[in-house]
Amino acid sequence: MKLIVMINNKGGVGKTTSAVNIAAWLAKMGEKTLLVDLDPSASASIHLGFEKVKNNHQTLCDFIINGGSDLTSYIYPSIIDKLDCLPSEPALGEFYDDMQQETEAEFFLDKKKIPAGYRFVIFDSPPNMGNLAMNALAIADYVLIPVQTQYLALSGLELTLKLIDKAQRHLNNQLKILGVFGTHYDRRTNVAKEVYQILQDKFGSLVFDTVIGVNSKLIEAYHAQKPIMLYSASARGSKEYKQLTKEIHKRIKKADG
Ligand SMILES: Nc1ncnc2c1ncn2[C@@H]1O[C@H](COP(=O)(O)OP(=O)(O)OP(=O)(O)O)[C@@H](O)[C@H]1O
Ligand SMILES: [Mg+2]
Repeated sequence: MKLIVMINNKGGVGKTTSAVNIAAWLAKMGEKTLLVDLDPSASASIHLGFEKVKNNHQTLCDFIINGGSDLTSYIYPSIIDKLDCLPSEPALGEFYDDMQQETEAEFFLDKKKIPAGYRFVIFDSPPNMGNLAMNALAIADYVLIPVQTQYLALSGLELTLKLIDKAQRHLNNQLKILGVFGTHYDRRTNVAKEVYQILQDKFGSLVFDTVIGVNSKLIEAYHAQKPIMLYSASARGSKEYKQLTKEIHKRIKKADG
């Protein structure tokens, strides 16, 4: 089981879109995958159709409140075969901090609490990372960093790298950056090319070859509450996420030896 955290301290860069669509493609490739939504905005959950107000399902927040030792009863199968979801809800952020203060527990999520059988666990994290995201970094194997290929996109990156470094030094010396990839890539602009080049200069071979272009079908798929592969399989965004997922899969296989 490999745990991967989608992370970037900056908002709106494509963390959730990437977490959902990469998780969906991993499942489609035959790998049993769990998507864990750590963001109180619950956008990854909603993207997969898990809206607490509609379904009244249990969430990660309920798990933390109930103080369980096993996440099984908070996990639901999604519309994609082999892809399960541990949904979030708005109360999550507040409760996590309250419970942490009350119980003086360091963290609530623990690899041992994740049911066996998953090949990949993908965590979608909120912007402005708090304790929950640090919890995920403390137990994860890898981080994936989506970067919006636009100016100012790089400003949040320094802070993200600092937080990853802090997690590596204090919480988890096994944590590695699996890679960095460009999102919202607008092929018509020089800005996109320049930012991608800056990423390559800074991160070298950690940068994935596949970039995710600007594609309105990805926005529509979110509103339709489906991964892009089900909403519009022929859309460029679907093909690019498939290609990126193949690269990610290959890189993990290589790292595992
Ligand atoms: N490649 C893309 N082309 C066009 N729109 C996109 C693309 N990727 C994401 N979007 C849209 O941009 C918005 C932000 O994307 P997303 O929610 O994935 O970012 P995020 O990093 O998770 O944001 P937050 O930090 O708020 O959680 C969403 O409306 C999403 O549908
Ligand atoms: Mg998000």
